[in-house]
Amino acid sequence: MNFPHLFSPLKIGPYQLKHRLALAPLTRMRASKPSLAPRPLNAEYYAQRATAGGPLIAEASPVLATGFGNPGVPGIYTDAQVEGWRQVVDAVHAKGAFIFLQLWHVGRVSHSSFQPGGALPIAPSAVAIPAEFKAMTADGKVVPYETPRALETEEVPVIVEAYRQAARNALAAGFDGVEIHGANGYLVEQFLQSRSNLRTDRYGGSIENRVRFLLEVTQAAIDVWGASRVGVRLSPYGIANGSGEADPMPLYTHAIEQLNPLGLAYLHFIEPRSSGSGRAEVNWQGVPSAMVLCRPIWKGVLITAGGFTGEAAEAAIAEGHADAIAFGRIFISNPDLPRRLQHGFPLTPYDRKTFYGGDVAGYTDYPVYDAMAAA
Ligand SMILES: Cc1cc2nc3c(=O)[nH]c(=O)nc-3n(C[C@H](O)[C@H](O)[C@H](O)COP(=O)(O)O)c2cc1C
Repeated sequence: MNFPHLFSPLKIGPYQLKHRLALAPLTRMRASKPSLAPRPLNAEYYAQRATAGGPLIAEASPVLATGFGNPGVPGIYTDAQVEGWRQVVDAVHAKGAFIFLQLWHVGRVSHSSFQPGGALPIAPSAVAIPAEFKAMTADGKVVPYETPRALETEEVPVIVEAYRQAARNALAAGFDGVEIHGANGYLVEQFLQSRSNLRTDRYGGSIENRVRFLLEVTQAAIDVWGASRVGVRLSPYGIANGSGEADPMPLYTHAIEQLNPLGLAYLHFIEPRSSGSGRAEVNWQGVPSAMVLCRPIWKGVLITAGGFTGEAAEAAIAEGHADAIAFGRIFISNPDLPRRLQHGFPLTPYDRKTFYGGDVAGYTDYPVYDAMAAA
């Protein structure tokens, strides 16, 4: 058997995992329209990737109607969405796997065509994503990002309450826990980073203030779930969606030190060596490693993701840099990825064109490896 560390048990919160290979959260833009509720096809996709005692993190799901920047993304704020997610969770649980839901608000990574009433997207500050990045409108046009509307101080707790309600909804849908999406340039990270947060109230300015929103939404989820069933995802050295802190370590050291005493299920990184959204390959030679830099600071279970092969995952766990590895792109094209890595079966390459949107093609039609046929 390959990779004895990757295929060894791990306890995350109350859950006893049989292996350490997680499905990374992956936006696939294939929910029902206009309800934005998961549908049977989505349940089939997740069930294909579920293994007994294996962890799945379901795709980022907006907590509010203002939280979308793409079509066909499933939400977690209506009864129909909860019902749709329940079918996904039931299909995954039937195979003995665990599934967390990633809670999302895109903030400024949106366009008014996605916003209720055609309003401007909301953000910590009225700072647009730089012109080299492009927004996609609801009818598919490529346009510059708009300058978002800065949230009033008293609006911020309203968003925190939306996270709390979304956490309750995830509980009602039967998930095993929730993960706060604090990565890739979305709303939580817009609060964290100084280039997108120019606020002068208690949510901006000092590092302590910029970390406040992350801590408040995390606490809201903990209030609903208990800390041992809540994870947080960060991308300290990421540059997705116009993000990036000039000097990340002071900011992320403080954030992690504040998260440490909460007793979370896990902290989850995106290594900067992959582009956050998988739209392009990135040359990552010489790029700092979030897991290596932050492991000494974080006291709990650490999951990381970003360009891992089976060998690299095994080495990261064996060397103590991480406890589990989340796989994104190669889990898209290899629904039986744990089995393939464990047995050394060849991998099916992924097709980037079918990552976002569409239907069955590139979603549920990737085959499992047939060892008999290959023999
Ligand atoms: C199609 C696609 C969608 C993604 N959607 C999300 C998402 O919803 N939430 C998130 O935190 N990361 C998202 N990511 C990042 C992945 O979770 C993962 O960190 C990244 O793909 C690196 O892992 P990999 O090299 O194994 O693909 C996405 C990546 C891809 C390719």
